[in-house]
Amino acid sequence: MGWSQALSVGVESIDADHRLLFALMEQLDGAIEGNEEASVVGSVLLSLAAYTDYHFAREERVMAACGYPGLASHKELHDGLRAGVMAACGRFESDPDAVDLGELQAFLRDWLTRHILDEDMKLKPVFRANAPRVAAIGEAPLVDLDGIEADALNEELEWRI
Ligand SMILES: [Fe+2]
Ligand SMILES: [Fe+2]
Repeated sequence: MGWSQALSVGVESIDADHRLLFALMEQLDGAIEGNEEASVVGSVLLSLAAYTDYHFAREERVMAACGYPGLASHKELHDGLRAGVMAACGRFESDPDAVDLGELQAFLRDWLTRHILDEDMKLKPVFRANAPRVAAIGEAPLVDLDGIEADALNEELEWRI
């Protein structure tokens, strides 16, 4: 299952991030099914990890701007996935055969779908109540992401998919 209107949280910048994350997962599917070299799969995995981090940072910034009381617990869920994805990237880099890519792929897709439906969706009324601020903050570029200029990352990812 990919992105559909049922997953919309009503904010274009955040919906666009979610769509891009699903698109990167499709790309990962393609790389796995096409038996691409480990370096190709690894680079898709790294893009997915980087964009996941970028998206979470955007969502957390918007939640903070809305004074959302559930920010800390929501961020904990994000941090859990951030750590899991980075660990998977690290394992894959040191030994590609040590990672069950099909399992990882299924886990990521399931996690993202459930997280959007169960957690991000709680934000929909909060976002609606703070619409002008959310639109402005959601669309402002994030300045820096692990040394990568976020706009450049965006352009690169848009080019790739
Ligand atoms: Fe989230
Ligand atoms: Fe999200």
